[in-house]
Amino acid sequence: MRRKLVAGNWKMHGNHKANADLLAAIVAARPFGCDVAVCVPFPYLSETAVTLTGTDVRWGAQDCSAHEQGAYTGEVSIGMLAEFGCRHVIVGHSERRQYHHESDQLVADKAKAALARGVTPIVCVGETLAERDTGQTEVVVKRQLSAVIHTLGHCAGEMVVAYEPVWAIGTGRTATPEQAQAVHALLRAQLQAATAHAADMKILYGGSVKPDNAATLFAQPDIDGGLIGGASLKAADFVAICRAAA
Ligand code: G3H
Repeated sequence: MRRKLVAGNWKMHGNHKANADLLAAIVAARPFGCDVAVCVPFPYLSETAVTLTGTDVRWGAQDCSAHEQGAYTGEVSIGMLAEFGCRHVIVGHSERRQYHHESDQLVADKAKAALARGVTPIVCVGETLAERDTGQTEVVVKRQLSAVIHTLGHCAGEMVVAYEPVWAIGTGRTATPEQAQAVHALLRAQLQAATAHAADMKILYGGSVKPDNAATLFAQPDIDGGLIGGASLKAADFVAICRAAA
């Protein structure tokens, strides 16, 4: 039985006051009966670490450089994230792929850099609406995951995968539990061909997860929790989603 993980992706939201209120509400709502993480903007990692140290709520970042260090203006290394106690880092989010033109190989290199420093990457894959409508969902997600599997090699079993259909992100249009489960099963099968640990690996669903649809999604056999965007910014909603994963 895989323990579920609910990770909040705050994206580019927050400020000192809002973050403090949100984190305090999450901490006060424990225990959850599932693993819980918040992936916050870089400038807020320090205060998040201070607030969550000593609790079982994890924290992480939303991206990292594939490079160890060097002349890469604006980039943040995984070593820096490790120094702030990050347990997770999201890599390959569709917003990074779309707005920053991140390739499958760059995403894979970031995942490799994270694991090398003991930070578990949450590797996002997902198809656009045009790709789904033209029957390319399977090809796209398998291509995206394949690059990571090959780059990680024997460490592939250590990542967390997140299936996030691009058309469901921030749109209020959630994949049906059946649609999501079908893709999760494909991804699990792909992992099974690559690592002996596939049955223990977490595959999260992301895309308009809300308190009223979380339980049904999380009840699917290959959905091991969620990567939550908008609803992770509202304490009551995020807590309700975490409870749905217990
Ligand atoms: O990383 C989270 C996803 O992009 C989902 O965002 O819950 O706002 O649709 P959303």
